[in-house]
Amino acid sequence: MQSFLDIHTTDAADLRQMIDGARAMKDARAGQPKGAPDAEQPLANRMVALIFEKPSTRTRISFDVGIRQMGGQTMVLSGADMQLGHGETIADTARVLSRYVDLIMIRTFEEQTLLEMAEYADVPVINGLTNRTHPCQIMADVMTYEEHRGPIAGKKVVWSGDGNNVFASFAHAAGQFGFDLTFTGPETLDPEKVWLDHAAEKGHPITIDRNPERAFAGADLVVTDTWVSMHDPQSARERRHNQLRAYQVNERLMAHAKPDALFMHCLPAHRDDEATSEVMDGPHSVIFDEAENRLHAQKAIVRWCLGV
Ligand code: CP
Repeated sequence: MQSFLDIHTTDAADLRQMIDGARAMKDARAGQPKGAPDAEQPLANRMVALIFEKPSTRTRISFDVGIRQMGGQTMVLSGADMQLGHGETIADTARVLSRYVDLIMIRTFEEQTLLEMAEYADVPVINGLTNRTHPCQIMADVMTYEEHRGPIAGKKVVWSGDGNNVFASFAHAAGQFGFDLTFTGPETLDPEKVWLDHAAEKGHPITIDRNPERAFAGADLVVTDTWVSMHDPQSARERRHNQLRAYQVNERLMAHAKPDALFMHCLPAHRDDEATSEVMDGPHSVIFDEAENRLHAQKAIVRWCLGV
């Protein structure tokens, strides 16, 4: 049993096994109704707590559906409705939950909350997003790239916009999966240096290029995300829009990428801000395959955590 807290702290061979396992499980379900059980039921008699301290559509539903498909049961919990939201410590919450459930998935604000949950729980903990990282999303993104275009190793991935928590997990994945990552965005919204160090240590230093046309040149995959994340103050909205306007993913910029480049966005999107609807609904876009693959990738992560 092991926790899935971050991509750079998980063994690269295990990450590869999860991606391949996710694709096999997806293939095995082809044509099945969404509610049909998987042929294998590795989570029979297992109970999973899904805790959300922030809003979610994809993470909430894909974990819930995936665990049920594998024969498990779920409890979807709002942090605000638990004593956790009223002063009970994370450590005590972790110890108590460990008496009831086999696995905890938590979406929270501070990374420290996730780490404390994992430290004090006797069951595996999965990172469903913090202010600093979103590893489950990037596992789905790697799976999506590879099912469309083959191995991601050695490919040019361009992130356009804010160096946020989703970018951080892409930076971690660059080192683990061996792709070349370019960040293009304003200096004021640069990613944290520590996120770049892992990729550099693994021999895949991340390029920072303020010029989006030059950054997009030869891209195999273009990725962006909302300009105002859940943890950013809404008062920053106008300033961020002004800083990021030049990095909007539109057809003009996509023309600099390879003709068969893919476009991804983890969603939810603010259409015609960070990416135009022409790109989101256009021939490069795989955003809904990406959303679907949250389901399959997370099923593989859950199995890895529980060793089943
Ligand atoms: N991409 C993502 O995590 O979506 P939700 O916020 O809807 O879970």
